[in-house]
Amino acid sequence: GRVRELIDRLGENKHLDKAEWVEVLSGFTDEDREYAASLAREISLAHYGNKIFIRGIVEFSNICKNDCLYCGIRRSNQNAQRYRLTAEEICECCDEGYELGFRTFVLQSGEDKSYSTEMLCGIVSKLKEKHPDCAVTLSLGELEYEDYKALREAGADRYLLRHETANKAHYEKLHPAEMSWEHRMKCLEQLKELGYQTGAGIMVGSPYQTVECIAEDMLFFEKFKPEMIGIGPFLPHKDTPFKDEPKGSYELTLFLLSLCRILLPRVLLPATTALGTIHPLGREEGVKAGANVIMPNLSPTAVRKKYMLYDNKICTGDESAQCRGCLEQRMKSIGYEVAVTRGDFK
Ligand code: SAM
Ligand code: FES
Repeated sequence: GRVRELIDRLGENKHLDKAEWVEVLSGFTDEDREYAASLAREISLAHYGNKIFIRGIVEFSNICKNDCLYCGIRRSNQNAQRYRLTAEEICECCDEGYELGFRTFVLQSGEDKSYSTEMLCGIVSKLKEKHPDCAVTLSLGELEYEDYKALREAGADRYLLRHETANKAHYEKLHPAEMSWEHRMKCLEQLKELGYQTGAGIMVGSPYQTVECIAEDMLFFEKFKPEMIGIGPFLPHKDTPFKDEPKGSYELTLFLLSLCRILLPRVLLPATTALGTIHPLGREEGVKAGANVIMPNLSPTAVRKKYMLYDNKICTGDESAQCRGCLEQRMKSIGYEVAVTRGDFK
């Protein structure tokens, strides 16, 4: 059919125009999705083999100055129990992660200005000094150029900053007026320029998202060429303005993972925690659709339930102290192996 023809064309030319993207995204069947997944899986096997990269994520503070309408740790949420880890606690989580075989640490937080750039640089350089064979990824939101620069010079290798949507009008429906789409896009440009392996991304099915929005996201990925793409379903959080909005589509998320792999063959593409939350086998299916990264939680179990971006987030109970073992099993069950390497963009 027509969609299949367009998927083949994407594979050959690494380009579709906006109208073609809209056709693909609005007209696909389960068979088309399976077709894209098998193509995507072949591509990731060719570039990365059956190896899955793991990133230990330390969610070190849930305090945020922002008020994104979708997010469970937005500043207006009075029900969130706020916490901050100290520099020592952050480093301890990473040390434990190192023992478990993690060679990338992702430090993520709300936009919490109580961590100075100097303090963050200290943490990054300490980690790089202790574990020279490791990569450090930051996900701290929008900062000034000088801060990104200092952190890069302190040794940070990668930065995750989802653009959330390539459509400015859509962005403005997801964020209060004090936030700006232009600024977020500018941050992404700066991160790239500073030599970070840079991650952009979206939530699938965020309120007011249309297929045209997603088409624009795909065109943005084509142009920006992020080294990493974070895509997960939107999931509502009970204490946000979007509490009654429907969750994003599981199937569309899997399809988009495949399309990203076909568009950018070497991109580092996680099967996200949100994908594992929307479906019990979501991360496995994500890998089978072309993802090659998994980001298990390294935060102390005592704080995990407090970094609740959306309802029912997985790996926040006591049973999850050992995500590493769990994931090893899960990957093995589908014929993949967890790699003990930094897992850089090739
Ligand atoms: N503060 C940093 C930032 O803004 O990039 C990092 C933390 S922020 C919570 C990380 C990502 O979580 C966001 O980019 C967003 O896409 C995702 N997220 C937030 N709320 C979500 C929800 N309700 N459902 C799915 N993903 C969500
Ligand atoms: Fe966290 Fe399975 S990956 S418990």
